[in-house]
Formats: sequence, structure tokens, C-alpha cells
Amino acid sequence: MSEYCVSAPGKVILFGEHFVVEGVPAIASAIGLRVRACVTTEVGGDRVIVESNVFGKAEVYPAKPPSWASQFRRIIELFGERFGEIVAAKITIESSLPVGAGLGSSAASAVAFTAAYGLAYGIRLPLPEVSQLAFEAEKLVHGKPSGIDNTISCYGGTILYTRGRGFEHLDVNLPQTVKLVIADSGIQRSTKQAVSLVLARKRKLGKLGDMIYDVARELVHKAIDALRRADIELLGELMDVNHGLLNAMGVSLPELETLVHRARRAGAYGAKITGAGLGGTIIALVDDDRVDNVVRSLSEVAAKVFITSINGPGLKYG
Ligand code: MEV
Repeated sequence: MSEYCVSAPGKVILFGEHFVVEGVPAIASAIGLRVRACVTTEVGGDRVIVESNVFGKAEVYPAKPPSWASQFRRIIELFGERFGEIVAAKITIESSLPVGAGLGSSAASAVAFTAAYGLAYGIRLPLPEVSQLAFEAEKLVHGKPSGIDNTISCYGGTILYTRGRGFEHLDVNLPQTVKLVIADSGIQRSTKQAVSLVLARKRKLGKLGDMIYDVARELVHKAIDALRRADIELLGELMDVNHGLLNAMGVSLPELETLVHRARRAGAYGAKITGAGLGGTIIALVDDDRVDNVVRSLSEVAAKVFITSINGPGLKYG
């Protein structure tokens, strides 16, 4: 077989991270930064080899892979169970997503790998199956993932996720001129630690904590409407409010505050932490004509800055 390629996007949480853990809906969207996976079966022997632009090259089957490749090993085993054989292949993975920054890089890699490895079996797996296999791999990386990342990476677009209720596609009508600027603080953080810190504060605050969560719920409802009506000014303000709530719950840092305030001062509609906080990334909604300004200001202090868009396509073949 000659080489075939697929690609899958990363994601941002636009609204509702952390509050989602206690049942508030969250809004996530596929971004333009993607993982590309190319597969060939012309490798000889019975080995599956993965070559990643981020982690290097490793045999993933039958040898025991290094920890960065354990999610791929899990997917190969699941293919083996489903099809009764393991097909030898070499899969090359090229990611433009930063690792461990809350942008769904592991899920996008798992989705792209699954779809590419399916091609080694001569099939295009249906999207629900790709998503399910990637979810199984995600469990190895994250313990108890919500399923947001693999879902958005497979289907693309923008989704509303409510714990225990699943996913719903959302209508988004933003003009092409609206960009998403992402700034990586370069500060490594543990999602687990951030989640338990927020939950501990909520418990301590009692009724006041419940009220903050009620505000977060109302904010997401308003954001759904603003996304549909393309009310960008309101979306920006809602991002600022969401950031304030995350700060109130204890997951901001001086470095993240600096990034958020720089983005706003340089002309963003709004800016906020995305994901777990305590490090990781912030996002800013910015009009085309102010992108340069915002990127320049963020680049002075951020480890890395990306310009992309939301509501991008999901898994693509070719
Ligand atoms: C982390 O990207 C998002 C959190 O809401 C945790 C989760 O939903 O599992 C902080």
C-alpha cells in the first residue's frame, strides 16, 4: 500500500471548564491546529512503528512502547480484538499542537492514529468507532476523561457538553475575520490538581460556591445565543466574565493574568484561561485587523503564540 494521510483537530474550551465537572454545561470548539497521521504498510515483518515529530520514533507492537506511545499500543490491541489480526504498519505523526497545554493534543493524535491505522486494514472506520477507540486510548492518558476532546476532534465544529447527558452540536456563525489567538504560558500544570483545588474551594464556599456555579450556568446559556447570533462583542465580554469566575475559583496565576490583560489591552474582544488553568494556555477572540497587535504583545511574555480559528472541521481523509 502506498502512503495515505488523515488529520484531526485540537480543541479549546470556550466556556464552562471546571464548572462542567459539577454538571454545568461547557462549550468546546475545534481549532485550526491539527495532527496529521500518514500510514504505510510497506514496513516488512509484523511490527507497528510510530514516528512522531514531537516524541521521536518507537516500535509500538509487538515490543513494549515508551510511555508516550502507550495510547497507540492500546488502539492497536483494540484493532486486534476487533479484526482478529494485527496489521504491520508505519505511522508518521506530525502535530502542530503544544503538548500538555489543554488543547487536546493527545486526543487529536489518538483520533488521527485510529483513522490512519484503519486505512492499513483497508477501511475507513465510521466516526463513532474512531471516537470510541480514541476515547479508550484517552483513558490511559487522563484517567477519567469527559470525552469532550475525542468527540470534538472526530466531529469538529462546536459542541455543548453536559456531564451525564452527552454532546449536542451548536450553531456558530462567526465571520471569517474573527480569529482565536492562543498563548501558551509555558507553565506545566496538572489538570487533576486544578480540579481538586476548585472542588475544595466550592465546598468551602458553600452557598456562595453554588451561586458562582449558577452564574457559570447562566453564562453558558448566554454564550450559546451569542455564538448563534454572532454577537462577537458580547462573546468577548462573556469570555472576560468566565475568566473572572475561574480566577475566583483559584486557578489563575499572575502569569495568566498578565497574558489575559495584555490581550485585552491590545484590542481583543475578550480573553480567558482555557482548560484547567494553573498554567497552560489562555485564548483571546480577536478581529483580523488587531491580530498583529495582540500577537506582538503576547509574544513578549508567552512561551508560544498561535493564531487560529474556532469551529473548524473534524477528522479529514487525504
Ligand atoms: C480540562 O481541560 C477541563 C476541566 O474542566 C476538567 C474536565 O472537564 O475534565 C478542568
